[in-house]
Amino acid sequence: MKILFAPLQGYTTGIYRKAHAEIFGGVDAYYAPFLRIENGKPREKDLQDLEVSNPQHSNPEKPACAITVPQIIANSVDEFKVLTEVLLQKGFTQIDFNMGCPFPMQVSRHRGAGLLSDAQTVKVIMDEIAQLSATGAARFSVKMRLGQSSPDEAFVLLPILNDTPLTQITLHPRLGKQQYKGVLDILSFEKFYNECRHPLVYNGDITSVSQICEMERRYPKLAGIMIGRGMLARPSLAAEYKAATDANAVSENELLSKILKMHGKLYEHARSTYQGDSQFLSHIKSFWDYLEPSLPKKTFKKIKPVNSTNTKKQLLR
Ligand SMILES: Cc1cc2nc3c(=O)[nH]c(=O)nc-3n(C[C@H](O)[C@H](O)[C@H](O)COP(=O)(O)O)c2cc1C
Repeated sequence: MKILFAPLQGYTTGIYRKAHAEIFGGVDAYYAPFLRIENGKPREKDLQDLEVSNPQHSNPEKPACAITVPQIIANSVDEFKVLTEVLLQKGFTQIDFNMGCPFPMQVSRHRGAGLLSDAQTVKVIMDEIAQLSATGAARFSVKMRLGQSSPDEAFVLLPILNDTPLTQITLHPRLGKQQYKGVLDILSFEKFYNECRHPLVYNGDITSVSQICEMERRYPKLAGIMIGRGMLARPSLAAEYKAATDANAVSENELLSKILKMHGKLYEHARSTYQGDSQFLSHIKSFWDYLEPSLPKKTFKKIKPVNSTNTKKQLLR
């Protein structure tokens, strides 16, 4: 089964994706955090982040380890067209469409999970996808939840999605109003799995190789698993799954040394990006919070209260 790295705004930046592919690997494709319209045009910061993964800049001598699929979020076919156009110009030919983001700022603007209850707008966007796919300009996938307020929303949309030439649908079986917590609605996921005519990818709360294998056993038609927070916590997860047949799990020492190597790259980049200790540390510490399960308890306890880079440098020595 394919293992896909979920988009995580603020975490899986271009630098992170590149470092992860080089140091850990095992991922079939990285999904970039969404590109959105801001002040009437594609957000410049999001576009810059995608440059690291731009296929036009890839070196044939040194091919990228895994592809990056850019993602867009839009509340209308007009926004959709503007965002798609700019990605096509940059040479991307595979685009993911976000219909799951639960952030109130996006939902209130009728984007992400806020679009799930609007079958009419979704249909117009899917018609645009069908047209663009027919010209061969690009191929599209969808990442979605069951609904904003009710799982019925996904089942109203499913016939429309089934009729659209999508490469895959990734389903996170929660509602937008649950954000990222609370019970996963596995029954609705199974119904969707049975009725979906596209390759289906499962996404939600996967943190171990045994969970991936269990999903594979229970749902043999699954095309893949998309993992977000579980991969931030254990960046070796995808590679360990790929090697599982050889019983080739990464040793804790190897894992720690790779985490440190990757941390070094994120650290250097953040140092040159953020001004001032407090901004820089809040960015870098947000990674530590996710990494806690993979770090020795004593180390985590030591680094957690750090509030200046001088202290942190000493700790790392
Ligand atoms: C901080 C954060 C940022 C996220 N940003 C995005 C995003 O840009 N696009 C998207 O489709 N999903 C985004 N998600 C959702 C994740 O891709 C994923 O669907 C969710 O975390 C559930 O999967 P997991 O349990 O494996 O983490 C985000 C989630 C978090 C926690």
